[in-house]
Amino acid sequence: MDTLAMGTILDPPEATAAARQFIQVRGARKVYASGDKSVEALSDVSFDVAKGEFVAILGPSGCGKSTLLMMCGGLEAVTAGVITIAGTPMTAPRASVGIMFQDPTLLPWKTVLQNVLFPARIQHLPEMEYRDRAQQLIDMVGLHGFENKRPHELSGGMRQRVAICRALLNDPDFLLMDEPFSALDAITRDEMNEVLLDIWRRYAKTALFVTHSIREAVLLADRVLMMTRRPATVVADIRIPFGRPRDMSVTEAPEFTRLCTQLRGMIERGTGQLDRRPGDGPILQPGRHGGEE
Ligand SMILES: Nc1ncnc2c1ncn2[C@@H]1O[C@H](COP(=O)(O)OP(=O)(O)OP(=O)(O)O)[C@@H](O)[C@H]1O
Ligand SMILES: [Mg+2]
Repeated sequence: MDTLAMGTILDPPEATAAARQFIQVRGARKVYASGDKSVEALSDVSFDVAKGEFVAILGPSGCGKSTLLMMCGGLEAVTAGVITIAGTPMTAPRASVGIMFQDPTLLPWKTVLQNVLFPARIQHLPEMEYRDRAQQLIDMVGLHGFENKRPHELSGGMRQRVAICRALLNDPDFLLMDEPFSALDAITRDEMNEVLLDIWRRYAKTALFVTHSIREAVLLADRVLMMTRRPATVVADIRIPFGRPRDMSVTEAPEFTRLCTQLRGMIERGTGQLDRRPGDGPILQPGRHGGEE
C-alpha cells in the first residue's frame, strides 16, 4: 500500500471531458414502493462532478438527498436514468467509493485502529499492509495516542474522525458524505470542517457532501447543488468563488455572509432563483450543469 500521496485539483476548464464528468448523473429517478403505495423521491436529477471537485448538496428535509447519495454509492438502484463513476454505471458498492454517514457506525468492541482497518478486513485484504496508512490517517486527524481506545472512550467528534480515516483507508477516488457532522455541537463541527479542509488540501478527493448547513456547504464546497422538495430535482448549481487552500477565516469575509444569505433566500423560495439586491455584487456564478458535451 502506498503511503499517502498528495492529490491534485484539476482546473475544470483544462480538464479532459472524462475528468470533468468523473461522476455523471443523468435523469436519475427513484420511486420507492411501500406496500400498495409508492413514493417518488427523485423525479429527474442530472449533474456532473469533475475529478477532484467537492460538491455539496443542499435541500429540504425528505427531498431525497440520502437517496441520491445511496444511488451514487451503488447502495440503492435507480428506477430510471443512469449514474456512472469513471464511465462505469454504479450498480453495486465499490471499494473505490468511501462513504460516511451521520452516525459514525463504529464497532464498539474494536479499537480505533481496528475500526480504521475494518474495510481491509471485510474485503479480505492483508491488514498488515494497511497498518502504516491507517496510522498516518489517525495521526493526520489528530488521534495519535488513541489507537487502542474503544469508541465509548472517545467524544462524538473523535468518533467521526475515526469514521473519516476508515472511509479513506482504501484511498477511494470518491467520497460520499451524508450529513457527517450534523449530530455534533457547533464548535466540534467547526473543528471537523477544518479536518475536512485539511484532508482536501492534501488529497483533493472527489466528493459529494449532503448537509443542511448553508455555512458548511459554502465553507467546504467548490459547487453547491440545490434541490427542491420531493419529488426532487436540482434547481440550482452554484460555483463557490473562494479558492483553495481554504480555512475557517473565509467565513469572516463579507462575501461569505452575503453568499450564505443569497443561498438561504433561494432555499426559502425553492425555485433556484436569485433575489438580488443592489450591492450584492457578482457573487453567484452558475456551476457546471449536467448535460451532454
Ligand atoms: N427505503 C425506503 N422506502 C420507502 N420510502 C423511502 C425509503 N427511503 C426513503 N424513502 C422516502 O423517500 C423520500 C426521500 O428520503 P431521503 O431519506 O432520501 O430524504 P433526505 O433528503 O435525505 O431527508 P433528510 O434531509 O431528512 O435526511 C422520503 O419521503 C422518504 O420517506
Ligand atoms: Mg437524509
